[in-house]
Amino acid sequence: TMRKNFGAKPFLYPQPVMILGTYDENGKANAMNAAWGGIVGANEIIVDLSAHKTTDNIIKNKAFTVGVADLEHLVACDYVGIVSANKEADKMKILAFESSCDETAVAVVEDGRRVLSDAIASQADMHALYGGVVPEIASRKHVEAIAALTDKALADAGVTKRDIDAVAVTYAPGLIGAVLVGLSFAKSVAYALGVPLIPVHHIRGHIAANYLAFPELEPPFLALCMSGGNTLLVDVRDYTDLVLVGATRDDAAGECFDKTARVLGLPYPGGKPMDELAQQSAGGVYDLPRASIEGHPLDMSFSGLKTAVVNLAHNAEQKGEPLDRAALARDFTRAVSDELVPRAMLAARTCGRKTLGAAGGVAANTILRADLMAACAREGVKLYLPPLRLCGDNGAMIGAQGYYEYLAGARADLSLNAYATRDIDDAVVAYRAQVRDIFA
Ligand code: KG4
Repeated sequence: TMRKNFGAKPFLYPQPVMILGTYDENGKANAMNAAWGGIVGANEIIVDLSAHKTTDNIIKNKAFTVGVADLEHLVACDYVGIVSANKEADKMKILAFESSCDETAVAVVEDGRRVLSDAIASQADMHALYGGVVPEIASRKHVEAIAALTDKALADAGVTKRDIDAVAVTYAPGLIGAVLVGLSFAKSVAYALGVPLIPVHHIRGHIAANYLAFPELEPPFLALCMSGGNTLLVDVRDYTDLVLVGATRDDAAGECFDKTARVLGLPYPGGKPMDELAQQSAGGVYDLPRASIEGHPLDMSFSGLKTAVVNLAHNAEQKGEPLDRAALARDFTRAVSDELVPRAMLAARTCGRKTLGAAGGVAANTILRADLMAACAREGVKLYLPPLRLCGDNGAMIGAQGYYEYLAGARADLSLNAYATRDIDDAVVAYRAQVRDIFA
């Protein structure tokens, strides 16, 4: 072991919290807050330690360092003050809540990558009666489900409330009443447990589903996010440094699937039945429009496509002409794919990314997945397609992103509000500047 005496440095004023660094017998680093320690002279400190991993390490190795927290490492230093290495090796358990649309979801995620539980209560059957999500019903169903679902998530994970180190929650974007339910519940849980509250942007969560599925994936990469309410191209420069590079100007791809499905007499949500129907035909029957926005090659539009399908179906009905529903589903999916896939490749090229991650419910689409695979293979881009289970709304993805937001210092206090819309590079940055826990 290399040893070095750095000597006494009389610069520890005003009284800081001291961090003791040690190694165990295997060279594994450990850090702890020396709460019972302080300055006793111009060049002397005193530290009083009871039984800790740190004490064991000092006895074994007869070596330690003393450091103090600077602003950049405030969060990490807070963390070692809260979590004991005797109890927790180095794991951080986040209880995560998602309620932005018609899924109530609660999950426990460890260190942003390992899903300990992922409880979901879908309301889709209820909304299917109305052919789409009814916001007020969604809010009420979240209220009914969330408490029991939280118990289930904890039980499934084999942990208790005391094991939870932080709470993460979707605060935007989504149906405002629905988001508010999860947010209010998450706030009270964080308050009751005395743990930090981490605000998570829903779409950042969708992107983070990739971290759960692919342990080796790290930023930077280009993300193609396609859900029921949003369609975006995002340059993921770092875990919490995300830049929007393209977006739909009107409807989301998922919304377009759902409305088209309705016209074809398919149940809500229409993505999956459309997917199945499209595979029954080779298509090539219907000529559907492709949109482009002058001067903005990475932006998209789906409303014209939606209207074209609606008009086509209505005209056929009025003229009493038969509609080849499977061919229409196929040609429609091809048109959606033509909007998304070439733009994703262009975005990757423009941003200089060699990795593409897909996200959101529409990423479950069979034809789209095949098209993305082919395009990426052609252009030498590594493609990450999360499994279907992680494509739709879930709590685990919020826990994954929540971990990285936590590491970046994102914290909210009890004044955190819900937002129906919020940019992907917004808000969390503002919270980061505050760097304060709800009990600080
Ligand atoms: O990500 P998600 O579960 O919810 C939002 O955050 O919006 O996405 C739901 C959307 C719905 O529009 C649904 O119809 C669509 O994803 N979807 C699909 C497929 N499975 C779900 N769209 C196309 N093909 C699918 N296989």
